[in-house]
Amino acid sequence: MPVSPLLGRSLLRVTDLTAVELNTLLSLAIRLKGVPLRDQFTLLRGRTLIMLFEQPSLRTRVSFEVGIAQLGGQAIVASGDEFMLGSRESPEDAARSLARYADAIMIRTYNHQLLERLAGASTVPVINGLSQQAHPCQALADLLTIRERFGTLEGLRLAYIGDGRNNVAQSLAEAAALAGVSITFGCPATHRPSDAFLAKLVQLGGAHDITARAFTSPIRAAKEVDVVYTDIWTSMGDEQYIERNAAALLSYQVNEKLMRAAAKHAIFMHCLPAHRGEEVTDGVIDGIQSVVFDQAENRMHAQKALLLALLTDLRGFEL
Ligand code: CP
Repeated sequence: MPVSPLLGRSLLRVTDLTAVELNTLLSLAIRLKGVPLRDQFTLLRGRTLIMLFEQPSLRTRVSFEVGIAQLGGQAIVASGDEFMLGSRESPEDAARSLARYADAIMIRTYNHQLLERLAGASTVPVINGLSQQAHPCQALADLLTIRERFGTLEGLRLAYIGDGRNNVAQSLAEAAALAGVSITFGCPATHRPSDAFLAKLVQLGGAHDITARAFTSPIRAAKEVDVVYTDIWTSMGDEQYIERNAAALLSYQVNEKLMRAAAKHAIFMHCLPAHRGEEVTDGVIDGIQSVVFDQAENRMHAQKALLLALLTDLRGFEL
């Protein structure tokens, strides 16, 4: 009987996974996409996922909710002042209570330390649905989308244009590195990932011998890459920096000129929601190179694989 290496574990950051585990999750997601829905609804029958949202969400909430329903389980959502971790009660007490009701907890919170405290006290898996520091579920969907497009990940080159320090950029880069994808960041000095982070990416790449570099020129960063990725200039929770970020990132818009610097076969990616006319033009996000809605769909497939791997022994899914 296969035993999931992820059974009972939590996913707070991409680096909670080994390269092999990441590959297993992506392979499982691809396998699941080929299984008719009528054959999926017993896989998590009777299982419950509790989802806590301190911040707004469209894709994360709906993709988890539909995904677990397709597997025969159910999701329960609490948001806003329904839970107020850290002020109404400690995250540890909340975790110990919720673990009595549910098989897994997903939480979207700005405060990553709160998430770690919740996971530390929980007896069921905790999934990070986006924190200030990380968005691992998005990274799983991103890698799944790239792998489907190119048939492989190893040896590809990805450029992230914009705020190279934000949660989406950092989780994406970690996942890409683990999978053998080289990364360039195109960002101003104010939004450049640290040298220590770039060195960590090379280390995560292991035997793949990847590169991880940052350029102030977005055109240079995008030169001949296979994937161009961007995100909104100001992440949720950092709204006080909107004007400062817009000024600093104005010349880092992904537009038609920038896409011409990438390889002819390059794809354009964005985690959504997008601010059209800011970090990306309509022409690029609606253009033939854009895969943003495949990415959005893959949130559901990647998370279904994740839930199966955290909650079952993966019987019947030898990979
Ligand atoms: N990409 C993403 O996390 O989308 P939502 O904020 O809509 O969940």
